Formats: sequence, C-alpha cells, structure tokens
Amino acid sequence: MWWESEAVCLIDQLRLPHEQVTVRCKDLSAVARAIKDMTVRGAPAIGCTAAYGMALAAAVSTAPDALALLGELEQAKATLDAQRPTAINLAWATTRMLGRARALSAEGPEAIRVGLLDEAHSILREDLAMCHAIGEHGAPLIPARGRVLTHCNAGGLATAGYGTALAPIRTAFGQGRPIHVLVDETRPFLQGARLTAWELHQSGIPLTLITDNMAGFMMRRGEVDCIIVGADRITANGDVANKIGTYSLAVLAQAHGIPFYVAAPFSTIDLSMAHGDLIPIEERSSAEVTHLGGQRIAPEGVTAAHPAFDVTPHKLISGIITEGGVIYPPFEDGLRAAVGKGA
Ligand code: MRU
Repeated sequence: MWWESEAVCLIDQLRLPHEQVTVRCKDLSAVARAIKDMTVRGAPAIGCTAAYGMALAAAVSTAPDALALLGELEQAKATLDAQRPTAINLAWATTRMLGRARALSAEGPEAIRVGLLDEAHSILREDLAMCHAIGEHGAPLIPARGRVLTHCNAGGLATAGYGTALAPIRTAFGQGRPIHVLVDETRPFLQGARLTAWELHQSGIPLTLITDNMAGFMMRRGEVDCIIVGADRITANGDVANKIGTYSLAVLAQAHGIPFYVAAPFSTIDLSMAHGDLIPIEERSSAEVTHLGGQRIAPEGVTAAHPAFDVTPHKLISGIITEGGVIYPPFEDGLRAAVGKGA
C-alpha cells in the first residue's frame, strides 16, 4: 500500500493472480470497504492501510479546529477497527495514529494532518524493517533440506513487503539454501493458491501447491521439515489466532514430530488478553464457502459455516519468530519482554 495525491493506493488482492490492478481509496469509507471485502488483507497490511486511512480522514476533513478533527478521527478509528475484529494489528495501528493526533492537538489541525501522514509512513517503514528482521531470525530454523509448509498468505502482500511467515523462506532462499515450499491452498478464500503461490512464483522460489486436506499425508510421507505460519493475534500465554486451518496443521505437526513456528511482529502481540479463547473470531459470509469464483458449488438453499480464523494453543507451538528474535516456550515472559522492547 502507498500514498499518492491524497489517496490510499492498494494492490487489489481480489483480482490476483490474474490481474494486477491498483485500487485508489479517496475517502475513509473506501478504505474501510477495501479492508472488509479483503481487497487488502493480512494482519500487518490492514494495520498499515488503516494507518493511511486515518491520515486520509484527516487530510480530507474540513474540521475547523483540532478538537473537531480529533472527534472525527475517533470516529474514523471506530469505523476502521470494526471491519475485521480478529487481527489486532488494525486496532494497534489506529490507536497509535490517534495517539499521535492527540499529541499534536495543541498545534492545530494542520499539524495533525502533517503528523498523521508522517506517522503512517513510519508504520509502513517499520513494518518492512521488521519483516526483514523476522527473515534473519527465522531462516536458521529451517532444516537443511528446506521443505517448509505454509498456510494462507503471510507474505509481502500481507505486510508492507517481504512478509512474516514467508520472510525466513525468502531469506534462506536468498542465502542460496535449498528451499521448497508446500503451499496450502487455504479454503475457502484461497489465499495460498491465489496469493502465496503467485508471490513465490514471482520470486522464483520453488513451490508445490497442495489442497489443505493433503497436509497430513505429506507430513506422514516425510515431505515436511517444518511449518511456518503468520498470526493475527497472539495472547499473553502464546495462543495464536491465524487463518482457519492453522490449528489442524499444528495438531498434525505435533503428531508427526514436525516443528511448528509462528512468525509475527510485536504489533500482533496482545497482552491484554490472557488466552486465545478470548479472541474475537471473525465470521464471514456463508457465500464465500458455498461459492467459488462467483459460481455456486453447494446445492441451492444450503448455508455454510465460515469462521475465518482459529486459535492454536501455545502448547502446539515450537517458537514465535519476531523482529527481536525467536521466543521459545513458555512464552509469557518472552512475549512481555518483546512488547516492552517494542513500546
Ligand atoms: O483473512 P486474511 O487473509 O486477512 O488472513 C490472513 C492470515 O491469517 C495471515 O496468516 C495473518 O494475517 C498474518 S499475515 C502476515
């Protein structure tokens, strides 16, 4: 995502891999819609987009004074946060933006406008830097043969660039190590088949696409050396919310003695929640399951469940790869120290 003449610009992830189209959001409601309909998706990416959304709300506002502008920004934050409840990066970014606006309020509305754009640029820059750091810390965890399984898309598209789960893979590949990625297609939204496969293919990183229900068989056949996934929220005890299907992978990994890593920046850690059962799980429309590419695949009249995320208990996680290093179990102290460092 990027800022261009008072617009938040996004690569339309709904049209990848077939078309590379830019969407220009010129007001807050367009940004909110893009987050909701998953034109932009992935926890850090929606955080960065929401930060620019707040900057945009300030830029187009006609509020006469700082107090009125702050009121509008509080409203903007509430609107953005409501679009996707599970990824904490969204509220993390809007909270930071509102804090910056409040700190500048004595200097008037123009100072807030300038300051918010500057803050959004910083969030984007920092996100990119943390992805590279995650890559450096995570690459040594990939076993020598280099067969890594990943789920959903936690790559450049899901972040400011480079990715979280894909960062150790990119770094190891860049070091000339053998890498082969098994990409879960990730039903029902197909982020793996559409986005991760596209990203890896573009980068020349060898991959094999598998359907989600092949993962266990691949593990049993000895074709998986480790699993790396991203996260939408990590609670104080190390429980992790991520794309639906992640929990099943972690159970399978344990059954086969395969290391299971989560890669995420400090902005994904939510110490206000003690454990994963407290995480709000986004329910998306039944139609995203009953239909594929606009075509109904289930019988007319049948509805489907669609929890978009699940929670992996910390006991199934071998390590959490952050920009500050790898946190190993028991997670709580390491997560608290990490957030302290990031604050
Ligand atoms: O529904 P999505 O596509 O936004 O879900 C994305 C994921 O679950 C990712 O694994 C997570 O946000 C981490 S992205 C670096």
